[in-house]
Amino acid sequence: MIMSTNLKKILSPFVDIKGGLMPALHAVQDHLGFISKDNISELAIVFNYSQAEIIDVITFYDDFRLEPIGKNIIKLCQAEACQSQNCKQLLSDVTSHFNLNLDETSSDLNITLKEVFCLGNCALGPSVMINDEVIGEATTKKIIGHLKKHKIQNNE
Ligand code: FES
Repeated sequence: MIMSTNLKKILSPFVDIKGGLMPALHAVQDHLGFISKDNISELAIVFNYSQAEIIDVITFYDDFRLEPIGKNIIKLCQAEACQSQNCKQLLSDVTSHFNLNLDETSSDLNITLKEVFCLGNCALGPSVMINDEVIGEATTKKIIGHLKKHKIQNNE
């Protein structure tokens, strides 16, 4: 297999160092957004592992992704304090509004929905985080308003 020049460049600092696979995986994900099947076969060759071994490492760590992720991440808190403030209903409303399940990304790669367990904003639940901003007493309307305000999504 002929390795892409881009991937070759990404992997080059890690190829000859002991334990280079982990930083190489992080570098691939940082540069390309996720670790594709093609990347896995190339990583296997470069680091002399089987593809199954590379996949085992990737799936062991929550941080690695095998699928592309959206440019914008909406994290919905599902922890106890937010549960008492109706976060389950909000989750249901948001997933149906965006027509996405948790951990899914919109086809235009604009939005990914994630669940989290406490955003440190328990008194103002249900809490949601959109990229770096926490939104308290969240509603679907508030989320849509935030997306419009930040020009993340205008067509709602
Ligand atoms: S439980 Fe939701 S922010 Fe803490």
